[in-house]
Amino acid sequence: MKSLGRDLWLRPMSSADLDAVLAIEFRAYSVPWSRNNLAESLAYGHHCVCLMQEQRLIGYYISQTIVDEAHLLNICIDPDLQRRGLGELLLQEWMLAAREEGASRALLEVRVSNPAAQALYQKLGFQLLSRRKGYYRTLTGKEDGLVMARTI
Ligand SMILES: CC(C)(COP(=O)(O)OP(=O)(O)OC[C@H]1O[C@@H](n2cnc3c(N)ncnc32)[C@H](O)[C@@H]1OP(=O)(O)O)[C@@H](O)C(=O)NCCC(=O)NCCS
Repeated sequence: MKSLGRDLWLRPMSSADLDAVLAIEFRAYSVPWSRNNLAESLAYGHHCVCLMQEQRLIGYYISQTIVDEAHLLNICIDPDLQRRGLGELLLQEWMLAAREEGASRALLEVRVSNPAAQALYQKLGFQLLSRRKGYYRTLTGKEDGLVMARTI
């Protein structure tokens, strides 16, 4: 549990949070993670962290650190609360936690069709490494993913 001020705090996600996480996931993404995807991440021991405002779950990230590399698997802010600096705060907190854990590099993939997330990552110093063809499912087919990374 970590207080961030402004009634905001971070805590580990548990299976009791899955309904609230899915409710955000399904509003935020056209191709959301399933309950099973989330449960698997919890079971695999991925870092699954909730951003809370008082008692309300308003965002989360899911990541995995392998040796010195932290890999962001999901980051999401409740659509009702986007564009208030919360995504940036959560991304910073993820990098801080990863560095404390011993990671020296942060890596992520983002859909080519997601300019909001790309702008966030660029703002925080991520650089484009490569493009993965057909990496993501869409409602009608596939789309490319951009791989971005930075030192932390
Ligand atoms: C991407 C996401 C996490 C950003 O969270 P947020 O709280 O809305 O973002 P912030 O308010 O912290 O914005 C920080 C920066 O990101 C960029 N940004 C965020 N939303 C943006 C948008 N809609 N259009 C353009 N730039 C945007 C801007 O550079 C912004 O800095 P600025 O406010 O100085 O312009 C949020 O849009 C989200 O949850 N989207 C759905 C899930 C998703 O796409 N996750 C990423 C998967 S790779």
